[in-house]
Amino acid sequence: MLIQPDAVEFLISRGNGMEFCKKFIKELDTKPLIVSVDFLKRFVKEEKVEEKIKPIERKVAPVVKIDEDGFEILRDITGNSTCEGRLEDFVLLFKDRFEKLSKMLRKRQEMRNAVPIKKVWRSDDEIATIGLVKDVRNAKNGLIVEIEDEEDMISVYVSREIDSAIVNDEVIGVVGKRKGDLLIAKSIVRPELPVEKEKKLTNEEKYIAFISDLHVGSKSFLEDKWEKFIKWINGKSGSERQRKVAEKIEYLIICGDDVEGVGIYPGQEKDLDIEDIYKQYEELADKLSQIPERIKIILQPGNHDAVRPALPQPAFEKELREFFTSSNIEFIGNPCYMKINGITILAYHGQSIQDFASCVPGMNQNEPTKIMKEMLRRRHLAPIYGGISSLAPERKDYLIIDYIPDIFVTGHVHVTAVDSYRGVLMINASAWQSQTDYQRMMNFMPDPGKAVVVNLKNFMPSIVAF
Ligand SMILES: [Fe+2]
Repeated sequence: MLIQPDAVEFLISRGNGMEFCKKFIKELDTKPLIVSVDFLKRFVKEEKVEEKIKPIERKVAPVVKIDEDGFEILRDITGNSTCEGRLEDFVLLFKDRFEKLSKMLRKRQEMRNAVPIKKVWRSDDEIATIGLVKDVRNAKNGLIVEIEDEEDMISVYVSREIDSAIVNDEVIGVVGKRKGDLLIAKSIVRPELPVEKEKKLTNEEKYIAFISDLHVGSKSFLEDKWEKFIKWINGKSGSERQRKVAEKIEYLIICGDDVEGVGIYPGQEKDLDIEDIYKQYEELADKLSQIPERIKIILQPGNHDAVRPALPQPAFEKELREFFTSSNIEFIGNPCYMKINGITILAYHGQSIQDFASCVPGMNQNEPTKIMKEMLRRRHLAPIYGGISSLAPERKDYLIIDYIPDIFVTGHVHVTAVDSYRGVLMINASAWQSQTDYQRMMNFMPDPGKAVVVNLKNFMPSIVAF
């Protein structure tokens, strides 16, 4: 049976989706091919069972020490996926998201006395509550936002002056007062980042370089810029200062879309220089072999790479890894938390930047750091379910930002941008592909052929253009 996304959401909203399915759908003589919301609603009146799903046992994220040079992977889906695409896994995913983000919200001063939604219905005073956003609709001078927790739901009126950037499936705190069936919001509270924390700086000057979206195999791959980059990183070009920086690069993080891929968008064939996906990886491996062996390359997949498209994406499988001859390459998933010399880095290809741009007024995919800030405030990389970026039903939500990174890096939108928010250095790493017709249609305004480098001695970023 196939279950429509709306039907999944309906089941999640009931909080007992698994029991519901067991009781009614499994016992049907004739099972429908596609389960829709309307189909499920036929059974609602008959249903009496209100049993809750037992909470899952939670494990502390393992720290996998990779090498002795101060490089660790803190969290990555690779090898940890539990995804079988089952309905109850979606229920568990959203349950995990709600539990973790509401726990973060409860640490906020305004949310200390937050009550479950069912208690809001019994109160006439100003009250605080927490809910997962189920629906957002426009209303006069504001929004009607439906929020739910494990037991109940309520509609919240949020005037535009208070907040106009609420997105589906994020977890928010609401302070407000009930008026009839509506909770009138006085303020919206996000999990947020704490105030700036102190960074662990290194004694010597050493650098991490960030690039992204190579799209090797595309006709639009910028070969000339790549050759200049290779010359520079080998210390053979640039000013004296730039050469010194290149000599001290210890890590190169590549944030996905490492090759162009095949069948990614309609009509992509005409944009391909290399049509065979394996040959694209062979070419990528050849290009990366030109980087000095002393530099550790950290290679992440993106939506163009040959791994599952749904987030979180695991690292490349063995058959792809075998193309790479260098022993100094680390294959990571998307997203991935890692530690380099005591600096915590969150690397994420950035698929959901487009979802935020299409859902939040005033957001633009060509200004990705503004959107990255919104992700940090929500402590979630991709809250919106059913948008451009698809989510895999893992039992644990790997897209929650529960560790606070020192550096948060994305790619995907082919822009070069650097900014900071509450001490987190945000980087959107540059692409190595010029604008394709498809990107023009999708309003991608590339700023390609650049490397962002960060000095771990003083945490200063700089951009080297090629
Ligand atoms: Fe890309």
